[in-house]
Amino acid sequence: MISLREVRKVYGDVVALDGVDLEIEKGTIHGIVGPSGAGKSTLVRCLTGLDRPTSGVIEVAGQNLSEVSESDLRQARRRIGMVFQHVNLFDARTAAENIAYPLRIAGVPAARRAARVQELLDLVGLGNRGGSYPSQLSGGQKQRIGIARALATDPDVLLCDEPTSALDSATTRQILDLIRDIRDRIGVTVVIITHEMDVVRQACDAVSLLDHGRVVESGRIADVVVDPATRLSHALVPLPPVPDTELAVIDVFFTSRPGEPTGARVFDVVAQLGGDVTAGTLETLGDVQVGRIALSAPQHDVERLARGLREAGLHVESRS
Ligand SMILES: Nc1ncnc2c1ncn2[C@@H]1O[C@H](COP(=O)(O)OP(=O)(O)OP(=O)(O)O)[C@@H](O)[C@H]1O
Ligand SMILES: [Mg+2]
Repeated sequence: MISLREVRKVYGDVVALDGVDLEIEKGTIHGIVGPSGAGKSTLVRCLTGLDRPTSGVIEVAGQNLSEVSESDLRQARRRIGMVFQHVNLFDARTAAENIAYPLRIAGVPAARRAARVQELLDLVGLGNRGGSYPSQLSGGQKQRIGIARALATDPDVLLCDEPTSALDSATTRQILDLIRDIRDRIGVTVVIITHEMDVVRQACDAVSLLDHGRVVESGRIADVVVDPATRLSHALVPLPPVPDTELAVIDVFFTSRPGEPTGARVFDVVAQLGGDVTAGTLETLGDVQVGRIALSAPQHDVERLARGLREAGLHVESRS
């Protein structure tokens, strides 16, 4: 659905995008994460056609954005619905009028508009709030209206830039559940730019890590998370803080897919070896269980423990 090849964007002597390669499949929810300055906002501007890459190819729904004329670009932009951190609704217009706005711009006749607006209000779970003004809606409800507005012209892609950063965690979960539900119902492809790994854990099927203008890691959540060498795996399943200790610390990483032995087995192995667990975490992401535990041990015992753990098929790193 979205394909970027060797996309570069240079501002003067700043290289904001340095050869981005990215494939996003139709109907998936794809997270894009990365440190500040990585190029996330630049990528969004290029995807929406607000900015043109210096070189490289961007295809959305089979259309090459780098080659289309200005007028076709305006058409192509309608294929992408945008959701922002701050919703920017018209305060003097009702929720229904806000949703109707892009339909008016697109020249949809009034009678069809009304029916479509009601359909969209129902889709975002606010079927009876069309007459409310933004000041009468909560932050989460405003974001729902923003999502309905973004979907009004039936885009192929919903591009969400920090969609939940202004919301509390309960509302964040509701909005992410809504986005997943909408994807399931209408099959739209969703891109979520976020700095919150919780958003990736809760909502995304796949994720890419952008750093210094390049995609340095990318894949389905279940695939990146089971590889202990990836930064994404460490970010998705972080080890809780380990209490200060004079002892050596051993990090143990384990995963289990359905049908494989679960985390409980790991604790058996650790117990048999006489290891001392000081911190641990267990996450279920899709159908994969991923855990990290930290063992503390006297220096002279580290090698024996690490060997025993490795023989049991666990990934082990030691720090002293
Ligand atoms: N219009 C511009 N002119 C000059 N440099 C720019 C411009 N836009 C972005 N940059 C530079 O490009 C790089 C990437 O910026 P970008 O805003 O895309 O990062 P980001 O990942 O969105 O960061 P953040 O998480 O802080 O929002 C930065 O070095 C930034 O200073
Ligand atoms: Mg940014």
